[in-house]
Amino acid sequence: MPDPNPNRKSGDFTPADYFGSYGGRFVGEALRPALDTLERELVSAWKDPAFQADLRVARDTFIGRPTPLLYAENASKALGGARIYIKMEGLAHTGAHKINNAVGQALLARRMGKKRLIAETGAGQHGLATAAAAARFNLECLVYMGAVDMARQRPNVFAMETMGARVVRVDSGSRTLKDAVNAALRDWSATFPDTHYIIGSALGPSPFPDMVHRFQAVVGEETQEQLRQAGRDATTLIACVGGGSNAIGFFSPFLDLPSPRLVGVEAGGRGPGPGDNAVRMTGPSRMGVAHGYKSRFLMDSDGQIGVTHSISAGLDYPGVGPELASLGESGRIEFTSATDTEALEALRFFARQEGVLFALESAHAGAVAIRQAPGLSPDQTLVVNMSGRGDKDLFITAKQLDRESWLEFLRSEVENA
Ligand SMILES: Cc1ncc(COP(=O)(O)O)c(C=O)c1O
Repeated sequence: MPDPNPNRKSGDFTPADYFGSYGGRFVGEALRPALDTLERELVSAWKDPAFQADLRVARDTFIGRPTPLLYAENASKALGGARIYIKMEGLAHTGAHKINNAVGQALLARRMGKKRLIAETGAGQHGLATAAAAARFNLECLVYMGAVDMARQRPNVFAMETMGARVVRVDSGSRTLKDAVNAALRDWSATFPDTHYIIGSALGPSPFPDMVHRFQAVVGEETQEQLRQAGRDATTLIACVGGGSNAIGFFSPFLDLPSPRLVGVEAGGRGPGPGDNAVRMTGPSRMGVAHGYKSRFLMDSDGQIGVTHSISAGLDYPGVGPELASLGESGRIEFTSATDTEALEALRFFARQEGVLFALESAHAGAVAIRQAPGLSPDQTLVVNMSGRGDKDLFITAKQLDRESWLEFLRSEVENA
C-alpha cells in the first residue's frame, strides 16, 4: 500500500493535504491565511531542536510518558485465547491521550506568539487537556462544548473551569461535538491573529489531520518499543475511533508493515437505526465535506450532517478523520463496532479482571478485544489501547451499573448541599 504521506518519516515534515481522496482544506477565504501560517510554522518547528526539546520535556515531566503497557494476565486466562496487553494511555495527565496533542499544539501556539487557545470538546477530555496546557504555558483558554455534553460530562466542566478555562455552552443543532466544532471554527475566523484553535482529533482542514497524527504517534511508538522489550510481536491492535486521533497515533508505526491487524472500533450505540449510532466506516455514510475536510459522514436524506448517538460522548461524532477513511478504504485498517451495552460489559470485565477502569470510549475497543481474543491462541498477542480512564464517566456508568445506590448517593448529596 502506498504511504499516503511519505514525508512523515523524514526529519523535514511536510503535512499531507490529502489521504487518497479524503482530506483537503475546505474553508472560507477568511481562514486561509491562518492555515497557511500554521503549516509554515509547523514545518519550521518540527525541525527546530529547541521545539523538539520542549516537547520531550513536557512529555516526560508534565504528561507522564511513557505510559505503561500492561500484560492483562487475568483477562487473557478468563477469555482463553490471545495474550492480551493494555496500553495504559489513560494514565497520561488529565486522563486520556488528548493531552499529547494539546501539549504539542500549545507549544506550537506559544512559539507562534499566540496569546489565546480555543478548543471544542465532546467528552471533555480534549477541553481538559487544552485547559491544562494553557495554564501550564500561560495562555488564555476558551472551550466550546455542546449543552448535551456539558450535562453528561459535568466533572470535566468543573475541572476545566478550575484550571482557568472559560467553557462556553453551545445550544445549536444536536448540541454535541459537531456543533462545538462549528462554534470554534467561527470564533477562529475572527480571532486568529492572536488565537490558535487546537482541534482535538485527526480531522479538520489541512494541516490539522497530519499534525494531530504526528503528536499522537508517540502512543504507537512507545507500544512498539514496549512490545519489543517484552519479546512479543503483535497479532492484532485495537483502538476506538471517534474522529480518529488515538487510533491513528496507536497504529502509526505499523501502518506501512504487513502486520499486525489494525482494528478500529466505532460506536454501535443503541443499534443500527438512523441516529442511533456513530458507525461511519461500516455504516451508511457518504462522502461529504464538513468542518473543513472531505471524508465519510453520516447524513440524513437531505444531505445534512446526521444526528448520532453513543453512550460515550467522545465517539458521538458524524465524521471520521480523512487518513482513517483512506486506510479503511485501502483495507489496511479494518473497522467494526461495539454497542453501548457491549462497552459497559467490557468496562465491567476489565475492572473486575485487571483493576483497570476504561473510559467509555476505550471500552468499545475493550469489547472487541473480548470478542476477538478467544479466536486467537496464547502465542498470539492482542493489544488494546485504553485511550482514557473511566473516572470522568462515573456519573454515567454508576447509574447504569448500580442505579439504586447511585441515586441514593445523589439524593443525599443534594440534601446535604
Ligand atoms: C478517552 C477517549 N478516547 C477516545 C476518544 C475519541 O477521540 P479520537 O477518535 O480522536 O481518539 C475520546 C474523545 O473525546 C476520548 O475522550
